[in-house]
Amino acid sequence: MTQPIVFSGAQPTGQLTLGNYLGALRQWTAMQDDHDCIFCVVDLHALTVRQDPAEFRERILDLAALFLACGIDPDKSTIFIQSHVPAHAELAWLLSTFTMMGELDRMTQFKDKARSHAQNVNAGLFTYPVLMAADILLYGTHKVPVGEDQKQHLELSRDVAVRFNGLHGPVFVVPEPLVTGGGAARIKDLQDPLKKMSKTAEADLAKVMILDDPAAILKKFKKAVTDGLAQISADEVNQPGVVNLLNIWRAAKGVSMEEALTHFSHNQYGRLKVETAEAVIALLEPVRTRFLELRSDPAELEGILGRGAELAGARAETMMKRVLTALGLPLNARRFGSAQGRS
Ligand code: TRP
Repeated sequence: MTQPIVFSGAQPTGQLTLGNYLGALRQWTAMQDDHDCIFCVVDLHALTVRQDPAEFRERILDLAALFLACGIDPDKSTIFIQSHVPAHAELAWLLSTFTMMGELDRMTQFKDKARSHAQNVNAGLFTYPVLMAADILLYGTHKVPVGEDQKQHLELSRDVAVRFNGLHGPVFVVPEPLVTGGGAARIKDLQDPLKKMSKTAEADLAKVMILDDPAAILKKFKKAVTDGLAQISADEVNQPGVVNLLNIWRAAKGVSMEEALTHFSHNQYGRLKVETAEAVIALLEPVRTRFLELRSDPAELEGILGRGAELAGARAETMMKRVLTALGLPLNARRFGSAQGRS
């Protein structure tokens, strides 16, 4: 395949929001036609915080089903669960010997998480970015769609790849970031429109979840925070709540700000809220339906994920063979077929 290789992943923790859908998932699905896309439920990453095993298993399958329901097509892309391909953990170990303590110590996400999970600052939390580098480098990835918050981790992946290649030859592709979530997709919290809509927000009314039912979506938009100016404008400084609704409406409809302002020139907040809710419901209802379908058919989901793991695994093995060889580790003939040098 000559299409650029794209890898992205998401953790099966917390449910995904409308912001995740418009800012990431919708972009992912749009890339499938002209990229060789690999999408991964990164369950091993999620183990850096404590998980209840029974619940965790369901969350992992939920996220895989949600990827599919959002339009990731297993005939076009490779979709799988990280722990199904053991090479991720294996390469992470090898790459940890090419990653400096000082580099990991500089990761702002580690510093934040060490503070917010002070009772469980495990080594995995510290080496998390190495596992992420392994995810990416394992597939010869050219482009990685990431949000702003993951840019530093991607930068580290690049540094590790360059360091390894400098010592052992050109084994890894040095990946480029593809920053997603710009423009209309920068969705804000409905209760505090100065903040990004986050899946970890406390208030239920603050965030629209991809799997919310129509009644919940309508309620959340009706209660969205606006202002007392009684005008619908694109003035982000004075009307962040209104602009957020406009952005959501036009992202759902695929129209420009000019068109949105014309459409809402009546300046009625009530109508803006309801129409935004309606547009979002129209966008998310098919996703919810497909999700429920997939989750009620374990055999179908298992089949798709099994095939995905097989495809990903085969590609990963090709890279592992090169990495092990470059490092001077003897190849296991049972794993890779005949021993090196012989055919
Ligand atoms: N760290 C990413 C996040 O929390 C998830 C992730 C893991 C990822 N491996 C990845 C994203 C590889 C892109 C590429 O959002």
